[in-house]
Amino acid sequence: MGHNSITDTMDVSLISPSISSYKWKDGTLKLGIMASGNGSNFEAIARDIDDGRLSAEIKVLIYNNPDAYAAVRAAKWGVPAVLLNHRNYKRRQDLDGRIVQTLREYGVEWVVMAGWMRLVTSVLIDAFPNRILNIHPSLLPSFKGSHAVEAALAAGVKIAGCTVHLICLEMDSGPIIMQAAVPVLPDDTPETLHARIQVQEHRILPDAIALAPILYGSL
Ligand code: GRF
Repeated sequence: MGHNSITDTMDVSLISPSISSYKWKDGTLKLGIMASGNGSNFEAIARDIDDGRLSAEIKVLIYNNPDAYAAVRAAKWGVPAVLLNHRNYKRRQDLDGRIVQTLREYGVEWVVMAGWMRLVTSVLIDAFPNRILNIHPSLLPSFKGSHAVEAALAAGVKIAGCTVHLICLEMDSGPIIMQAAVPVLPDDTPETLHARIQVQEHRILPDAIALAPILYGSL
């Protein structure tokens, strides 16, 4: 196998910041996770909690697509999953109102958008100010939007990555908590690059969940 093969570089990354330099607070984070699809990031969080690497509890998964595999994963981990299908709501604000209600019912303190493919409104953002994290598959502020990996490849960047940031009204903006960079290889396709990025997403999302309360308010 050559040195430049995709397999060789699956684990090459630069992650910043390193959470080891922060002083840990005691307490268990009460998380609500929002996902639209596969839910591999949900799984990464659940696994880190199970391993004792992240002091948190997933109170509820909210998903918007009836066939989202994230719901299957939630069942496996014994996490309640609530389907809020956006197609049943006339306005984004109405959906967000139901999301807020559900998060409150389950006692959620921090919200994690882990592959939530809908724009959110001030109804949700104002209900959890500085308490909503998002994971995005690019080194923001480059390549915002839903085709970030394809856009990075099309632009010919040589380094790609992922970002965990706090949500604000503007899409894929808001204070950056943590980023991981990975190499782009000459023979990459959107699928191979995304797979390399996802390895790092699964590392930085749980770490950023631990770091965000230290940086942005108390537990
Ligand atoms: C991730 O690439 C994330 O960055 C983006 O959507 C994808 C979700 O993946 N926002 P998964 O559903 O967690 O596997």
